[in-house]
Amino acid sequence: MARSNSNTARQDRFNRDDNEHGVIGIDHFAMPADDIELMARFIEEVLGGEPYYVTGFDPEDEAKGKPRQVFMRVGNVLMQCAEPITGGVTVGKGDTNPWPHWAFLMSAEGLQRNLARLDEMGIPYFGPAEHVGGDSFSAYFASPEGHKLELVTYDDYPAEKVIGIFGPKGAGTPQWADLFYEWTPSS
Ligand SMILES: [Fe+2]
Repeated sequence: MARSNSNTARQDRFNRDDNEHGVIGIDHFAMPADDIELMARFIEEVLGGEPYYVTGFDPEDEAKGKPRQVFMRVGNVLMQCAEPITGGVTVGKGDTNPWPHWAFLMSAEGLQRNLARLDEMGIPYFGPAEHVGGDSFSAYFASPEGHKLELVTYDDYPAEKVIGIFGPKGAGTPQWADLFYEWTPSS
């Protein structure tokens, strides 16, 4: 089948509940983490998350070989941080491929507020830049372990605060190698 570019109406999907097989939306996503305590603290401090479901930590779990997992609630989505079961994490600072990445939805005011928070915390980010078509604005940053994250708004965004349009002729694209950093929890 030949495909061509298309773009549906702005924000329409947020009011849709019509998947023919009953799919509503994303419940959680699972990120492999070498240090889940560090990741949980990062999600608490940087994304305002809170522990929602924690498993694998008691001796019984340990005896069963259950991997340690922390589900952090961020908005209405759960970010699951789990220890690798095959010995190594493949997502990380050695990988500058833009995918996988995970995007959090917010208002324009929320995006400005959170970028100011990243500035305060000394966490590097790329953006905010406008997606081609002008329907959304995003900024990108990494977790301390190199998971790639995005903050996105479909609101209008103050033009003077936008670094340009994504793409080779505009603001460019995130250079992930420049966005990795070391981080320690605040206390
Ligand atoms: Fe994205």
